[in-house]
Amino acid sequence: MKLMVVGGGGREHAIVRKLKENPAVTDIFVLPGNGGIAADAVCVPVEAKDIKGIVDFAQREKIDFAVVAPDDPLVLGAVDALEAVGIPCFGPNARAAIIEGSKVFSKDLMKKYNIPTASYECFSDPAAALAYLQDCPIPVVVKADGLALGKGVTVAMTREEAIAAARACMEDRVFGESGARIVVEEFLTGPEVSVLAFTDGKTMIPMISSMDHKRAHDGDQGPNTGGMGVIAPNPFYTEDIAKICMETIFLPTMAAMNAEGRTFRGCLYFGLMLTPNGPKVIEYNCRFGDPEAQVVLPLLESDLLTVMQAVSAGRLAETEVRFSDRACCCVIIAADGYPVKYESGAPLTLPANEKEAFTFVAGARKTEDGQLVSAGGRVLGVTAVADTLQEAVNRAYAHAKKVHFPGGYCRSDIGARALAAQKGESV
Ligand code: AMP
Ligand code: GLY
Repeated sequence: MKLMVVGGGGREHAIVRKLKENPAVTDIFVLPGNGGIAADAVCVPVEAKDIKGIVDFAQREKIDFAVVAPDDPLVLGAVDALEAVGIPCFGPNARAAIIEGSKVFSKDLMKKYNIPTASYECFSDPAAALAYLQDCPIPVVVKADGLALGKGVTVAMTREEAIAAARACMEDRVFGESGARIVVEEFLTGPEVSVLAFTDGKTMIPMISSMDHKRAHDGDQGPNTGGMGVIAPNPFYTEDIAKICMETIFLPTMAAMNAEGRTFRGCLYFGLMLTPNGPKVIEYNCRFGDPEAQVVLPLLESDLLTVMQAVSAGRLAETEVRFSDRACCCVIIAADGYPVKYESGAPLTLPANEKEAFTFVAGARKTEDGQLVSAGGRVLGVTAVADTLQEAVNRAYAHAKKVHFPGGYCRSDIGARALAAQKGESV
């Protein structure tokens, strides 16, 4: 079977490694992939947003099944375009991907169907937004409506910060059209949990839970990033909470999308906050999270291609999706200065992959003489699986020590909050 994966980060590397476990897979093409993914698949220089280029390639190569992983091509209709020429895909169509593509859409959906989330107001008029921010309760959260590379959210601890964020979105258009509308949201508190779920619109199967670490520095300090590390499972996400989430959030979201004529097929990502008033949705994503995919997929025991094909064909109910009861930790190594200002081109030397400690490559390219060099902010996801979370954390950091990346940095406390919670310490 010939597969195509659209995307080129650590998430896509984790997807490719898992898909390769199926013996029926003969070829995997990744568009555009990266210099590290090239060790596991054929990388093709077609950008993930180039929908026509993706479809042309898939037709030319007679691709049997495609996986569209990033938000941009999903929102732009890559799945619609591939299915229109008869290529089965894993991923939602554009009508369903709007659940991530527009925060105004997703907030209105939750309100209409009583799905628990932070209370909010939407604005398209800057004057009205600024007037509201003059006397709303503080802290408050300001979010650009559209896609903004994970940077469109400001948790404002002061009124000045909130006003500056709204101006940056609506007047300065720092996120382009994505900030033409904003959502201003109630500030919530509590541990965060990421839950990815397979769904074909009829059945919803949550994967193992995880905990992302979004801030750049130890102790959850510094600016928000795309994610500096992740652990699974998330100890805050108990069986009781999972049951509440299934009943009040996951199944109602699937039903709401169906009722809106926007059936979602693919991986639906629930970013949750376990507040004192119960679990609430912080955000939906229309895809696997990154880095969450880098810890969730190594724990998947069932065959990923079989599950993805079942989702695409609407046969998820008949398909087994089994996870290991072990733990996984992924430590991101990023370029110094990420997410603000950083350089690319540092030479990378990676330790050999082991069965339970390995590297996913998020941002790297091969030079003409075959040297792997950094190319991007988040560069590597050093990942380890073990029987316990403590061992997985230790193993991931031990493996990360063997990486040679001048000008790279990682947080030293990935998993610390989860481990403290496991021990019953206050966090
Ligand atoms: P997002 O880009 O939507 O993932 O948001 C980035 C981060 O902002 C989340 O992981 C939360 O830590 C924080 N955040 C978003 N919305 C809220 C909220 N309503 N209250 C508190 N924190 C929030
Ligand atoms: N890790 C969060 C995301 O993928 O959006």
